[in-house]
Amino acid sequence: MQDDDGWISTLLEEADNERMHLLTFVHIAQPSWFERVLIIIAQGVFYNLFFILYLFSSRVAHRIVGYLEEEAVYSYTEYLVGIDAGTYENVAAPQIAIDYWKLPADARLRDVVLVVRDDEAKHRDVNHDFANQLQNA
Ligand SMILES: [Fe+2]
Ligand SMILES: [Fe+2]
Repeated sequence: MQDDDGWISTLLEEADNERMHLLTFVHIAQPSWFERVLIIIAQGVFYNLFFILYLFSSRVAHRIVGYLEEEAVYSYTEYLVGIDAGTYENVAAPQIAIDYWKLPADARLRDVVLVVRDDEAKHRDVNHDFANQLQNA
């Protein structure tokens, strides 16, 4: 019932961006039907718990997302280390990622992880900033 100051469009953009992360890594990891079921269950549980949390405290909800995003930045950094060490094969980037991030046609997994990690750092800053604004409101 009040002006959202552009928060909704920012968060919708973030959700769409995360959707592209998921679709990209589904292409790379090729999860089995069992793993897909686990992902759907995890999404269902997270969605409902987060919804309830948001009703109680949007500040805490954005703060938690900020920390989760920071954890994602850390995980993708470890992923890069693994790619460079040869633990993970630096496969060709899927077309969906090349199109979305406008990567060169010969882009590899490493290029994708770098742009995804940049996205996560942006999400981290946005969500901590939203939590700060709610804290100071
Ligand atoms: Fe993500
Ligand atoms: Fe994120």
